[in-house]
Amino acid sequence: MERASERLAELLRARGREWPAPIEFFEELSSTNDVLKIRARDAAPEWSVVLAERQTQGRGRHGRAWISAPGNLHLSVLIRPALPADAASVLPLAAGLAVCLALSERGVAAELKWPNDVLARERKLAGVLVEGASGVRGIESAVVGVGVNVGVVPAELPPQEAERTTSIAAETGGPADILVVAAAVLAHLSVCYDALAREGPATVVQGWLRHAVPWWGRGVEVRSEGRTLSGIARGVDARGALLLEDAAGRVCPVLSGEVRALRLGEP
Ligand code: BTN
Repeated sequence: MERASERLAELLRARGREWPAPIEFFEELSSTNDVLKIRARDAAPEWSVVLAERQTQGRGRHGRAWISAPGNLHLSVLIRPALPADAASVLPLAAGLAVCLALSERGVAAELKWPNDVLARERKLAGVLVEGASGVRGIESAVVGVGVNVGVVPAELPPQEAERTTSIAAETGGPADILVVAAAVLAHLSVCYDALAREGPATVVQGWLRHAVPWWGRGVEVRSEGRTLSGIARGVDARGALLLEDAAGRVCPVLSGEVRALRLGEP
């Protein structure tokens, strides 16, 4: 798959970016995140990229599987974050913002659902899984894994989930080129990461909020670490935590979880 890697490097060059690290493209592997983590342990340089047409053990957030159909984008990028702790905690939001901007560029009305799901018409279009490895000096590397339904909604998804999922092809009514989408994701990722490193988390959080689903002031439910919390979504703080107002009016930060908007009448 050397030709695909070369074409992606060429597409990045056409966007004014000489990609600084190896790009590897596989027909099939277990998970691009897992392969890139091995590369990271073997001292791979920052911005190394692994892509695959199919993953046999694609992983999503919260230990879920990510069904990887050919025709979709499965990509992981290695970052070695030289970031203070407050900025490092915003990396997942920065990655989600980059994917959202890349998909908007492809003509999709993309929106972010906290922390980094990308939706179109309230259906899931892309997901991001950031996995960090810590050493004595804090986070030594982070693998940013991005899955985008470019051409298809995977046929293996359970019907209820398939109804809440979409693809670029379905949103734009035409075919989309995986490598063009990959180039857009990588280019935006490097811009968002630079903004995080140079300007700090506030710039990224502000950008993230501009593209977020407008749920602020609405009732939401958050599944977080085995608990289900409900309250009113009040925004996102400087660390990227979701601010949830409880029934007593206290606003608490939620650091991780899965959020959904409650419908009218739901408690
Ligand atoms: C989610 O929404 O739960 C995150 C999904 C992330 C999926 C991508 S596909 C490429 C990379 N490799 C993986 O195993 N997972 C991520």
